[in-house]
Amino acid sequence: MALTHTSLTKTSTTDTSLTHLSVGEAGTQSVAFRVNGRAVSVSSSPLQRLSRVLREELGLTGTKVGCDAGDCGACTVLLDGDPVCACLVAAGQVEGCEVTTVEGLADRISSGHASGDSSSCASSSEISFSGVSAGARLQQAFLTHGAAQCGACTPGMLVAATALLERNSAPNENEVMDAIGGVLCRCTGYRKIIAAIITAGTETSRSESTDITAISPDAGGAVGQRLVRLDGKRKVDGSEIFGADETPTNALAVRAIRSPYHRARFHFSDLDAFVRDHPGIEAVFTVKDVPGKNCYGVIGPFADQPVFAEEEARYRGEAVAAIVGEMAAVERLEVAEFPVSWEELPPLKDIDASLATGARLIHENRPENILVRGRVVRGDVEKALATADVMVQAEYETGFVEHAYIEPEAGFARRVGDQVEIQACTQSPYMDRNDIAMILGIAPERVRIIPTAVGGGFGSKLDLSIQPFLAVAAWHLRKPVRMVYSRTESIVSTTKRHPARMQLRGGCSNDGKLLALDFAADFNTGAYSSWGPTVSARVPVHASGPYYVPHYRALTRAVHTNLVPAGAFRGFGVPQAAIAQEQLYDDLANCVGMDRLEFRILNALDDHTPTVTGQVLGEGVGIRACLEALRPRWQAAQREIAEFNSNAVGALRRGVGVAGMWYGCGNTSLPNPSTIRIGLKRDGRIALHQGAVDIGQGSNTIVTQICADALGAPIDHFDLLSGDTSITPDCGKTSASRQTLVTGKAAQMAGEKLRRAILKLAGACDCASIRFSDHGVTVRDGDKSLALALQDLPLDEHGYVITSEATFDPPTSPLDANGQGVPYCVYGFGAHMAEIEVDTELGTVRVLKITAAHDVGRAINPTLIEGQIEGGVAQGLGMALMEEFFPGKGENLHDYLIPSAGDIPPVESILIEDPSPVGPFGAKGIGEQAVIPTAPAILNALHDAIGIRVRKVPATPDRIRAAILAAQKKGEARG
Ligand code: FES
Ligand code: FES
Repeated sequence: MALTHTSLTKTSTTDTSLTHLSVGEAGTQSVAFRVNGRAVSVSSSPLQRLSRVLREELGLTGTKVGCDAGDCGACTVLLDGDPVCACLVAAGQVEGCEVTTVEGLADRISSGHASGDSSSCASSSEISFSGVSAGARLQQAFLTHGAAQCGACTPGMLVAATALLERNSAPNENEVMDAIGGVLCRCTGYRKIIAAIITAGTETSRSESTDITAISPDAGGAVGQRLVRLDGKRKVDGSEIFGADETPTNALAVRAIRSPYHRARFHFSDLDAFVRDHPGIEAVFTVKDVPGKNCYGVIGPFADQPVFAEEEARYRGEAVAAIVGEMAAVERLEVAEFPVSWEELPPLKDIDASLATGARLIHENRPENILVRGRVVRGDVEKALATADVMVQAEYETGFVEHAYIEPEAGFARRVGDQVEIQACTQSPYMDRNDIAMILGIAPERVRIIPTAVGGGFGSKLDLSIQPFLAVAAWHLRKPVRMVYSRTESIVSTTKRHPARMQLRGGCSNDGKLLALDFAADFNTGAYSSWGPTVSARVPVHASGPYYVPHYRALTRAVHTNLVPAGAFRGFGVPQAAIAQEQLYDDLANCVGMDRLEFRILNALDDHTPTVTGQVLGEGVGIRACLEALRPRWQAAQREIAEFNSNAVGALRRGVGVAGMWYGCGNTSLPNPSTIRIGLKRDGRIALHQGAVDIGQGSNTIVTQICADALGAPIDHFDLLSGDTSITPDCGKTSASRQTLVTGKAAQMAGEKLRRAILKLAGACDCASIRFSDHGVTVRDGDKSLALALQDLPLDEHGYVITSEATFDPPTSPLDANGQGVPYCVYGFGAHMAEIEVDTELGTVRVLKITAAHDVGRAINPTLIEGQIEGGVAQGLGMALMEEFFPGKGENLHDYLIPSAGDIPPVESILIEDPSPVGPFGAKGIGEQAVIPTAPAILNALHDAIGIRVRKVPATPDRIRAAILAAQKKGEARG
């Protein structure tokens, strides 16, 4: 298996990122130290960050920078054997020291010393790994356990774990969690990382891990295998290229000037004089310099976001100008030096203010500040509620949630003739291409987007960020330009999960049959549309949960405010709705005295019951199987918890909760095709052009597994070409859990088509077999065997002997005025169960275990699916208990808390395979699905433990305490 990354240039050793560090203030001096066993000497300010020296001076870009503040741990290196944050170590401090980065882990054979230093190699008895370094063992274990997803945290994790294993070759789980506690991962949920470290540390557990070892399956045997991710090696050896890791030599730096106010008018004074007076600054760009439309947006009809604000900034963090110049000059600038004056204006900061009668319009063409409404109505909800035996109503609220991927946005651009090329992290290269073309006023074919590896996206990197600034600057200056967001810039300016305000009424019969649900929600969509229309459309379809609800009304509104735009974040609003609907269903079950799990099983959708849009799926509705799979653990947990609580004497109480989930894969009632091209080369290898961007979820591997089995070729015969709009057809965006279904299906079709073409070339029947080997391609038809003389055959326009291309667009239908129709052709289903412990005096919650059952149709790669589930659980836990972003406050990873390794409990994943009739080999999506049921399961467990509902999520300790006190006042609290 070869994997091609089409980078434009080699790593620069001269350019730097926008870290706002005072370069050269203390003068430069020579600093001599050893890196990975090699003596080096750099000329640097002694105050320069070690991370920057490693990356920019020495080209060791395996060390990642996620915050420059000691918060994320991505930059962890070993300094004389001890793990340190390289962003907090000054270059002058490492004089004479030994530094080990991820690039040197494999060769590091001794604690505190590297292999190149034979004179000082210690023969520590603690390091008895049969000649294999701890680092190398960890790298292998990370691969085989699927412990690296996007890979942005992986170098820091590996380095921290190496330090641990060099001290303690057989750590237990707590010791591992302590050791990696300072390194944040947003993708994996840590469980596979912990398992990998424990495995790497002991001979015994290593031998137990054979079921997850790398394999190279025979032809036709890839689907269903725990195949090591095909791009994994780069992620563990530090050679993966993320947005900030590569740039042309002498690229200029781009830095945006952003509004410090939620709403402000602004005025520039003499920009020409500013450029003249600042040596090294080449240009300032504003709205006047946008050659095409000063407008972009992920959904064409709603596009409204300017590259540069014109006269008035609508949110704090909106860009009004961009400065371009030499790196040092750009970094030296104090923001106050820039000639802009601000007039702060009163903002509309919440939904009520924006909806108030007579409120100022944020966009003139959007009455009442409503961007869009969503609606699904079925049956007669009022009548059903009036006649229901039991009716419950509730209100819930959720806040902004920050994506907090470890890699801030970064990339570079350059103009090549009349084209512009942008290499950057993105989830949606073709969408980027179209918007950049519009901004520059050129044809899309004149824009080339080259996605780098993506250090986590979760939806936010679907929207443009750095790209418009890079494009405008490169276009005008005809020089390469580079932009790297700081953590604060990333948090301030990029999209968030929509805050939601939800009201519900639900009714059921005394025997627990759901009769009706009335759901209304307003979503704070911020200053610009982004994915607001998608959230508004998707939520009404899903707010019933995966249950049969005969009478249903769901109405949504996306409301503009003067806050950061809310956009796509894993689930497109469905996780917020599930928080409300699943707690309401618990209340209904409690009211009728039913077991909460059995209530859900009773009402679960099946193949033949209509959904709230009237769709009957016919096959592949696996929610009942998911819920039933939880039953044994549910019953055991209830017994254990009852015993614990009956014996409890202190402040601790335990509870168990459950929640169900469904999620339609792909766009809601809109086309979203993927096209896959594969080519048979003259040497018999297969080129797979797949444009689905792998943001860590594993599409590079999954799509190849599917294509390989459809064609009947071994996985290692594929050469993968990913993402680049000049070499791969459009596979759409990586979002909405669509890549396994949509791109996977296209890959299956293209593989089958190529198989038929090869058989036809050989004059063989459809039942003949094809053998791919290092010697070429052989077709066996009955007794006859024919070796194809590929070397003698002409090449087609793509440069292949045979090219096969296939497009798949999920069959859906538009929804009518009541939201009736077929919004998705495939749904994923799942249910989570949470066991928790509450400290009623402190208001803290410890999650003890999550059991997660998911119907994935067909588990193409179980390890990668488990990774998605565990990562989703971690994000759901954060959403339930700790994560809330307040625009204007805590714009860093110190104040904005995401779960660290110690927060994540054991996760038991149960994979249900109820095949989809549409998906490739029956597969369904899992990416969004995994996050949805965790938060409501935890919140239901909280109610089970102490009898309170926290109406505003996250349920932070202060909110839990306040709810306990309020309940005590009313005499309702338990425990
Ligand atoms: S980059 Fe150093 S801790 Fe985040
Ligand atoms: S794999 Fe850890 S941040 Fe992505």
